[in-house]
Amino acid sequence: MSPFTCVLGSGHAVPPRILTNAELEQMVDTSEEWIIERCGIRQRHIAAPGSALSDLATQAAQQALSAAEVAAADIDMIIVATVTGDMKFPAMACLIQEKLQADNAAAFDVSAACSGFLYSLHLADSLMRTSGYRHILVIAAEMLSSMVNWQDRNTCVLFGDGAGAVVLGRSDGSNGLLSTYVKSDGRHHKLLFNPGGSQHPPSHETIDNQLATINMAGREVFRHAVVSMTDALNAALEQAGLTSADIDLLIPHQANIRIIEGIGKRCKIPADKVYVNVDRYGNTSAASVPIALNEAWRGGRISSGDIVALVTFGAGLTWSACIIRF
Ligand SMILES: CC(C)(COP(=O)(O)OP(=O)(O)OC[C@H]1O[C@@H](n2cnc3c(N)ncnc32)[C@H](O)[C@@H]1OP(=O)(O)O)[C@@H](O)C(=O)NCCC(=O)NCCS
Repeated sequence: MSPFTCVLGSGHAVPPRILTNAELEQMVDTSEEWIIERCGIRQRHIAAPGSALSDLATQAAQQALSAAEVAAADIDMIIVATVTGDMKFPAMACLIQEKLQADNAAAFDVSAACSGFLYSLHLADSLMRTSGYRHILVIAAEMLSSMVNWQDRNTCVLFGDGAGAVVLGRSDGSNGLLSTYVKSDGRHHKLLFNPGGSQHPPSHETIDNQLATINMAGREVFRHAVVSMTDALNAALEQAGLTSADIDLLIPHQANIRIIEGIGKRCKIPADKVYVNVDRYGNTSAASVPIALNEAWRGGRISSGDIVALVTFGAGLTWSACIIRF
């Protein structure tokens, strides 16, 4: 039997409402030119107030199940990467399980911020190898618009909402996840965080003092992002016995075009082998890589046999990479 876990199908969904840079100009002291030049973002999708992220995630999951030709009843486990679930508890994975009627699964969430999708793939791959599971559904879904401080120009221009999903199964050949790598450094947790939690439960004071919104030291985060993603990519490549010259398509976390270009340069991967959609979605956190993967696959950017490298970075700080042969 092949030792590999493979991706059987993928899907993604974003809310219909588009928030443009021109609209942000009306909300904070910023400009269309600044956002495009410093971040490469032209627009982002934002969920309607009161909408459920689990609905968006379910749409992405249904698309992935349909592409994989796997019935919801045949899913053994649902792992959802998110820091913006519908409720504090239960896990959003359980809400999605109900919506999908995936009654034979076990379901739970993973909290690793923007690295959550690849942390989940790492976990799912290990479980596929060591348990009798045949199919694991990995979803990454975020509604960061619900925790953005819309008066803070340093952060509110960057983020968007969305969901991506993959169905994993057992490979019957040489295709599949060749390696996964995960790493974190909690010493830097104050560079990117949302303090709203059990230490600061909801109150008038926490709302007034913006204690339930995103805080970020942008410049430092930028620096760590480039170094950490380069480290993750090199580690995952080495583990797979490959080099960056073997990569057919690099799908990096979509946070800022300058970070993406920085990784391409450091890893010597030409721009035409790097997938970019940050201009259309902004930073959708954990959902960013699976959204891009689904677009690239459906858009014909990935062919059978291709080596695809996924790499992410996020709050924690966390970083991770995965090498897949399609
Ligand atoms: C946030 C980020 C875009 C800022 O870009 P930058 O080139 O580093 O900008 P700086 O932080 O050096 O700030 C430069 C100036 O632009 C200003 N600025 C910040 N946001 C602005 C905005 N939306 N519009 C206009 N000016 C802005 C700053 O206030 C600063 O002004 P000052 O020099 O008068 O203080 C960039 O640092 C970044 O992308 N960091 C990583 C963020 C990230 O990816 N987070 C998620 C990780 S998963």
